[in-house]
Amino acid sequence: MTDVQKAVDFVRANRERYLSELKEFVAIPSVSTSDEHKDDMARAAEWVAAQLRSLNMDKVEIMPTGGHPCVYGEWMGAGKDVPTVLIYGHYDVQPVDPIELWENQPFDAVVKGDNIYARGTSDMKGQVLASIKAVEAVINTTGSPVNLKWLIEGEEEIGSEHLGDFIQKHADMLKADICLNPDAGMIAADLPTITYGLRGLCYMELRVYGPTKDLHSGLFGGTIHNPAQALIELVAGMHDKKGKVTLPGFYDKVRKLSKQERADFALLPVTEQFFLEQTGVPALWGEPTFIPAERVGARPTLEVNGLLSGFTGQGSKTVLPSHAMAKISCRLVPDQTPEETFEQMKAYLEANAPKSIRWELLSLHNAGTAITDPNSAGVQAMAHAFETVWGKRPLFKREGGSIGVVVQLQQYAGVESVLTGFGLPEDNVHSPNEKLHLPTWYKGIESLVHFIYNMSA
Ligand code: BES
Ligand code: MN
Repeated sequence: MTDVQKAVDFVRANRERYLSELKEFVAIPSVSTSDEHKDDMARAAEWVAAQLRSLNMDKVEIMPTGGHPCVYGEWMGAGKDVPTVLIYGHYDVQPVDPIELWENQPFDAVVKGDNIYARGTSDMKGQVLASIKAVEAVINTTGSPVNLKWLIEGEEEIGSEHLGDFIQKHADMLKADICLNPDAGMIAADLPTITYGLRGLCYMELRVYGPTKDLHSGLFGGTIHNPAQALIELVAGMHDKKGKVTLPGFYDKVRKLSKQERADFALLPVTEQFFLEQTGVPALWGEPTFIPAERVGARPTLEVNGLLSGFTGQGSKTVLPSHAMAKISCRLVPDQTPEETFEQMKAYLEANAPKSIRWELLSLHNAGTAITDPNSAGVQAMAHAFETVWGKRPLFKREGGSIGVVVQLQQYAGVESVLTGFGLPEDNVHSPNEKLHLPTWYKGIESLVHFIYNMSA
């Protein structure tokens, strides 16, 4: 029996245990954005560290950052002449709201048919565990043919704000031939996918202030510019009728898509129909001169993520609110930068905000845009692994989401990433009823086993 077959057999014999470990991992409510879950974050880091310790790494450490800690692990026992694979993951998850739309408790996983439902199953505790279990299978059967490092962070879902400093400070420690990053996803269960581009992010909060206190709308309406109205007037002006963003200079640095890139986008099986089916909207929206896959993968956008003002309780209240707030984020593409985008938003507000209100713009978090090397040894090793397990070449795509670490590793440690994952578009990531498709997950674990042996070849 070949080495890889021994490890794959190990995976097949241990599926039940993997599932119960996944339930244990997702039961820890490691929501990074709220202080309320600080202890849970520490517990999740501990849980990951214990898993890594069970793999007999030379070193496993929970390392402080300016925010939530990183779990670092290392095993250099394969020797100087073979590659080192750095495996990235994040143990934090998104908040669960709106909680009333969940069909089960979000941290009490339920298996229904082929899927397991709980926050973090797909994004990305399932993917973190898949990597750990693939390595476990290799170590318990033949030993690892490559050196291994682990970087499992706790702030991905809030912008990896402190990870850049951490990587800069520990650049030597993190040196590797490739980073395996399974935080992206697949186009469909039968279409293994390698992602070679991610959008960046510039996340802002816009506050509009009017009167010093809430007012009676009958006594003051018509003389005071309502901050809720002023805010939505400003927000409405951020797009033109064609769906283009109006911030001054917004498109100046956007790299034009080549003929070849546009031809590649046209071949992806993500059509208008796909977006209609996945989302339930009555019609699509956006720049008419780009197909939906391009609009998501290669065009910058501006989204309102949240709006808050005035009275939103039951019944009615005739109030003229004293302030209003919007959470606004831009997804960016090469060669835009979050810093320039923030300045463009400021310039837009300076030019368009009326004299009747005061405003304040905060920068909440940023992520750089990333294009990874599609010809790296890691990408080749992963593509071959998919070919073996799925029986077909993976699709290569640029994804609309953001993952801060990819650029940070390129910039500060010179490490390229291979971006993949076993989540599906219908997994409800960041949404109620997040789930993971178990048959795809099990195949994913096997493909990571193949990836590890392919890396040593
Ligand atoms: N795993 C996602 C990003 C993703 C999803 C990439 C699907 C490719 C395919 C990640 O955890 C995420 O949601 N990131 C945030 C980062 C942001 C807060 C900087 C995002 O994209 O909103
Ligand atoms: Mn993720």
